[in-house]
Amino acid sequence: MKDSAPQTVYLADYAAPGWLVDSVHLTFRLDPETTRVVSRIAFRPNPEGTQDRFYLDGENLKLIGATIDGQPVTPEITATGLTCPVPDGPFVWEADVEIAPAANTALDGLYMSGGMYCTQCEAEGFRKITYYPDRPDVMGIFSVRIEGDMPVLLSNGNPVASGDGWAEWHDPWPKPAYLFALVAGDLVAHSDRFTTTEGRDVALNIWVRPGDLDKCAFGMAALKASMVWDEQVYGRAYDLDLFNIVAVDDFNMGAMENKGLNIFNSSCVLAKSDTSTDADFERIEAIIAHEYFHNWTGNRITCRDWFQLCLKEGLTVFRDQTFTGDLRGHAVKRIDDALTLRARQFREDAGPLAHPVRPASFVEINNFYTATVYEKGAELVGMLKRLVGDDGYRAALTLYFDRHDGQAATIEDWLQCFTDATGRDLTQFALWYAQAGTPQITVTDDFVDGTYHLTLAQMTPPTPGQPDKQPLHIPVAVGLLAPDGSEVVPTRMLEMTQARQTYTFADLAARPIPSVLRDFSAPVILNHTQSAADRGVLLAHDSDPFNRWEAGRMLARDVLLAAVRDGKAPDPAYLDGLRATLTDDQLHPAFRARILALPSEQDVADALVRAGETPDPERIHSARRQVRQAIATALDAQMDAVFATMQVPGPYDPRAEDAGRRTLSNTVLSYLTLLDAGHRAAAQYEGADNMTQQIAALDCLLDIGAGQEALAAFRAQWQGDRLVMDKWFGLQIARSDPAETVTRAESLTRDPAFDWKNPNRFRSVFGALAGHMAGFHRQDGAGYDLLADWLIKLDPLNPQTTARMVTAFDAMARYDATRQELMRAALTRIARTPNLSRDTTEMVARILG
Ligand code: PHE
Ligand code: ZN
Repeated sequence: MKDSAPQTVYLADYAAPGWLVDSVHLTFRLDPETTRVVSRIAFRPNPEGTQDRFYLDGENLKLIGATIDGQPVTPEITATGLTCPVPDGPFVWEADVEIAPAANTALDGLYMSGGMYCTQCEAEGFRKITYYPDRPDVMGIFSVRIEGDMPVLLSNGNPVASGDGWAEWHDPWPKPAYLFALVAGDLVAHSDRFTTTEGRDVALNIWVRPGDLDKCAFGMAALKASMVWDEQVYGRAYDLDLFNIVAVDDFNMGAMENKGLNIFNSSCVLAKSDTSTDADFERIEAIIAHEYFHNWTGNRITCRDWFQLCLKEGLTVFRDQTFTGDLRGHAVKRIDDALTLRARQFREDAGPLAHPVRPASFVEINNFYTATVYEKGAELVGMLKRLVGDDGYRAALTLYFDRHDGQAATIEDWLQCFTDATGRDLTQFALWYAQAGTPQITVTDDFVDGTYHLTLAQMTPPTPGQPDKQPLHIPVAVGLLAPDGSEVVPTRMLEMTQARQTYTFADLAARPIPSVLRDFSAPVILNHTQSAADRGVLLAHDSDPFNRWEAGRMLARDVLLAAVRDGKAPDPAYLDGLRATLTDDQLHPAFRARILALPSEQDVADALVRAGETPDPERIHSARRQVRQAIATALDAQMDAVFATMQVPGPYDPRAEDAGRRTLSNTVLSYLTLLDAGHRAAAQYEGADNMTQQIAALDCLLDIGAGQEALAAFRAQWQGDRLVMDKWFGLQIARSDPAETVTRAESLTRDPAFDWKNPNRFRSVFGALAGHMAGFHRQDGAGYDLLADWLIKLDPLNPQTTARMVTAFDAMARYDATRQELMRAALTRIARTPNLSRDTTEMVARILG
């Protein structure tokens, strides 16, 4: 059954639920084709409720029977739910429904993955399990009985009783239905224990398929580190006697914070040195932390409605970012977060899919799990912290936890805690949640008689539905350097509240070099024309590591732009700056690697678009290669030395220090490979005893058009490992010559190992295709057609993953007329597909405008 006309939901229409849930009893009789779900729910009228009709959400359910207080009832059923007359006071609703987990390819609700049962309920999957008020402001206490012939039967909370073929669970913490979870399968656990500061002895398990037991130790260590960190930094301890994590192979997202039973995409929890890279280890550590941190920011305090999604996601991302910074170093983490924000969120904000951190409406909420809600949402938390200071932030968060524990809260509640705890008026700051688009700050300055004037002018460009923007409250951290690089004015937090403001610094001996937006203090784009010489000073001397890196980044950007526009070779001053950084042993290797890594082809395209030019993907691709070649040639000797000294002796350890050395040596290797015909890379490939070194070498070889033998050997070695094979699929597309990217992707779809129904595998091919700018945007439109064909094929099975991947087309408007036409045609073809899902329909419509 399908809705004929998808409804738009508006934040402004929020109405409190008419009935609240005291308790929920669920009995599952598991069967792949016909699972029975028997529910017994105690409802009571909500005194604050504004709904007058009893309504339960439900989709794709077969209702066998229902009773109210034991009396059979015959509800009125639609494609999206049911209604039924109910008594005036509290009552007990019972329903018996039938669902078909094996037929659930959307991976939303109860489904099967590799023979195990698994659930995904956020945001609105619970309604595919039984009839229920499936909204986060309805919180109930869940008891669950699972009957099934699987050795391991799990749900939220604590185990109550179990026997052969059944188990019962009870979760003492009231929760919204989106946090419900059930897992049943032939699983084994990597187990450990943790004692909280409150003295609670918690059993910890990571449940996996038997063959994966050797890939759990790192995740377990990360979980324990997260538990310690949340106690020490936020004063939050875990609140159940059991914490379970389960790895599943088929999952639309990264992981899910179900109370006491987190479910993870196996790619986000399984880790082992010979199959996972340093980047995988760091990402897994961060995701484990993220889901664990949700226990307080998301579960104990949840969202009133889905418009408030950033309340839990922005805050939890901010928390996991801080955690990673504490463990692995803040400077590099801040650079990586800024890179991600610019690559994903700024791009989203610059196109047809731009939306506020708290959107005002949606058709399908799954389409709003975006970089804006998550990453920009985290930036807003970071800005709040900068504005109120560390102590103010701690006080505000303590108040937030005290005041809203057990509640479903809003952004207004959140900001009120900051105001109440610190006295700050955040009325203007609140605009950040409502106004889409990336603000641009233009910097100008002058220096007269020892006084320096720094003028900042802010402007946020129009976004869909928001033509006119108001000035925002923006913390801009600024420091001043003397011409010799010494710091004359340490970091000062300037608070912009108007469109244009001038700040004065007196008593300076010479015209200073400004270091603006230190530590990337706000998610904005800086328009700041600085001389290459000033940037050179900042690159060499800025006390703020972020801006030190940023100065190098700006130099690199200008070098790339000059190469694209005029075929110019890199400015020797830039090469000197790079050489100095590369050989500066005082700097962390990971930091040096970040400086050495050039802006991506997409970054160059962004810069051209901002300058009002139309990017030519092939030209950018070859210009960037030329620049890389020139850098390699100029820095050959130093790189050779760094490559040798950065090799990490001894057995592999994922710790940050070793990872940093490997990142630097592999960055250098990617340059050296351009000169040595792959000699060093081939040797590294042969000798590698861990995935970081192995795949970095393969990457380098493929990059120069070599490595076909290594690729075949890699496959032979790893064909039994799904996660490594995802890398095998993705890398050869990502590193293909632009003329061959589409054919390579197309031929891989015919590979017997291409399991297109598995989201990870689908993304490994089509994410790599869409991410290869020059290959995907081939002039004849073959890339667009191939992606459209497969999205049309995937949509009926998995709307969520399809809708996500449609975003590959969202940069349409920046390209030339021919490419735009071809993209429009591909999108129109998707739009005209009969029975297209609500998810994909909304995305295509928004992109087409
Ligand atoms: N809430 C999950 C997280 O951020 C993400 C998610 C959303 C997972 C929807 C599945 C479905 O941790
Ligand atoms: Zn999250």
